[in-house]
Amino acid sequence: MFEKDILKNKVVLITGGGTGLGKSMAMRFAELGANVVIASRKKEVITKTASQIQEIGQEVLGLQCDVRDMDQVNTMVSDTLNHFDKIDILINNAAGNFISPTEMLSTGGFKAVVDIVLTGTFNCTLAVGKKMIKQKKGNILNIVTTYAWTGSGYVVPSASAKAGVLAMTRSLAVEWAKYNIRTNAIAPGPFITDGAWKRLAPPGLNMKKKLKSRIPLKRFGEHLELSNLATYLISEQSGYINGEVVTIDGGEWLKGAGQFNDLEKIPKSLWKTMQVMRKRSKNN
Ligand code: HXC
Ligand code: NAP
Repeated sequence: MFEKDILKNKVVLITGGGTGLGKSMAMRFAELGANVVIASRKKEVITKTASQIQEIGQEVLGLQCDVRDMDQVNTMVSDTLNHFDKIDILINNAAGNFISPTEMLSTGGFKAVVDIVLTGTFNCTLAVGKKMIKQKKGNILNIVTTYAWTGSGYVVPSASAKAGVLAMTRSLAVEWAKYNIRTNAIAPGPFITDGAWKRLAPPGLNMKKKLKSRIPLKRFGEHLELSNLATYLISEQSGYINGEVVTIDGGEWLKGAGQFNDLEKIPKSLWKTMQVMRKRSKNN
């Protein structure tokens, strides 16, 4: 799909890059020539993933960082610059989430998620953005989700925070374009990862089956599909795309939006009967 060295000499910083979709993106970017920095709270996870990326043959830096803490974020940025001299691309991927009836949430639970998703994205964007402004070039990609604009019950902290990140994406796309910084977002539907599924699809709720049945393409996303989309958006090839959110969900959110989409449950034989009746009544 891409030239083998499409990301050659690029330095990509990925928060939450030790697991799940962040790890998949980091591996893919390295395969395509990028040097990557992955950062999150769990040092052992980051170290393990970093050594896997190293086997691909690119330079990799694994940093411990809690994106909620601005001092740690500033250290992450200076450690990256000490090592690589520049940051071309920031992927705000780190997230926290869980399902809960909203009336059972504590303010601490709401804050835990919003601090990671919204404040964490802001902290990284601010710290890296200042460097990108000096570099006169940059590219920021935020990972949101489709309920950033539809909202969703039972994940109110995450939905509120992701909506904020989407607003931040569109705001900075305009404000920082003058510094030659592009800002975009990807909105994934369901992709299987340990982190998301153990929190959002606990065994017993049959969530996996329910989630799949909501997707017109009748399958979950493949990590490579998302990584390839991210590659396009961070590459020079998408140079005129700014302020966009690209949905990658097999048609899931639109299926929930159209009033008549449930009519797929009507069997073909019944449609045929209705057609015969309609023609008969027209002829009478
Ligand atoms: C209600 C909960 C809770 C739960 C924690 N809390 N889990 N409340 N239901 N299941 C509350 C606690 O009671 C506490 O409130 C507060 O949240 C902080 O809890 P901690 O455990 O101390 O938080 P912390 O260690 O900082 O962990 C943050 C976390 C955790 C968000 C709670 O889940 C986490 O580390 N997540 C990181 C990875 C992750 O979530 N990945 C999934 C992303 S998937 P009090 O009041 O006692 O202080 C995703 C997909 C979206 O975003 C779209 C899918 C289609
Ligand atoms: P995941 O593996 O749990 O990824 C979340 C990552 O964020 C982890 O690596 C975690 O690492 C890191 N993180 C959490 N809190 C952090 C903090 N305070 N500071 C730094 N890093 C932190 O889940 P995922 O499914 O791959 O999710 C990746 C992204 O995709 C998220 O933005 C998520 O909202 C989005 N998304 C996922 C899906 C899906 O179906 N999987 C759908 C839509 C959107 P540590 O624990 O080491 O900190």
